[in-house]
Amino acid sequence: MKKSRIISIMSGKGGVGKTVSAINIALALKEMNKDAVVIDADITTANIGIQLGFKNFPISLQDVLKKNKNLLSAVNIHKSGLKVIPASISLSKINSNISKLKKLIEKSDGDLFIIDPPPGLTTATTNIIKMSDEIIIITNPELPSVINSLKTMKLAKKLNKKVLGVVVTRSEKNFSRELKPAEIESVFGCPILAEIPEDKSIKKSIFDGMPVIKNSPYSHSSIEYRKLAAKIIGDTYKQPKLLALRRVFSR
Ligand SMILES: Nc1ncnc2c1ncn2[C@@H]1O[C@H](COP(=O)(O)OP(=O)(O)OP(=O)(O)O)[C@@H](O)[C@H]1O
Ligand SMILES: [Mg+2]
Repeated sequence: MKKSRIISIMSGKGGVGKTVSAINIALALKEMNKDAVVIDADITTANIGIQLGFKNFPISLQDVLKKNKNLLSAVNIHKSGLKVIPASISLSKINSNISKLKKLIEKSDGDLFIIDPPPGLTTATTNIIKMSDEIIIITNPELPSVINSLKTMKLAKKLNKKVLGVVVTRSEKNFSRELKPAEIESVFGCPILAEIPEDKSIKKSIFDGMPVIKNSPYSHSSIEYRKLAAKIIGDTYKQPKLLALRRVFSR
């Protein structure tokens, strides 16, 4: 049986941009011909289905966990082309055991899984770190977020997990009210992997139920998510032709 690559998008604090990042990294990887599946592992406050505007889906992650079903039977293809395993938002399904996910991934024939976990450092998030091969740490450029993400990074390292790097999201580059990249790098002790700017297109994309890299393909956040995805697979980012043309005409 082939070994799948499992990458989890972790933070510490909630609301920092994990779900948005997981969705857009997975879709950018798919655009680069990688067979990526994004999994909503946030059993209690599931979000991916809502952000993607799914009205209903036949099987949820909780269903496959409960019935030990084939994991890939819960894959839904979003209209963007994204392969997604959503979690149910039903109150009756919040008691599912996420630690069983590892076995289901091992039994599946999947290539690459991007896991979107719940916030916090709980038993659930620790289990998700344990089942991952690699971790991407998400933080906002503010101290409470950085400190909590640092705690998560330390736990991941203690569990001998490979940390691919730190992604700063919602960066406004206003250094009178946010930390500078060099300060964030010095706290984490590693270079920043990507900086995703604060971008109105992201709110719009959630409103439209469409990942930003599809909804506003030339927005700053979309370009940074594509660059990040290229780094994850060790590829070089190729600027879309139309973007190069737009830059020429806007001079
Ligand atoms: N780069 C960005 N620019 C502007 N808004 C953003 C950006 N990234 C995320 N957001 C906003 O922040 C909100 C929270 O993002 P998201 O749901 O991805 O966070 P999360 O870390 O997954 O939260 P939770 O911990 O609750 O699961 C989104 O609804 C979106 O409106
Ligand atoms: Mg989330």
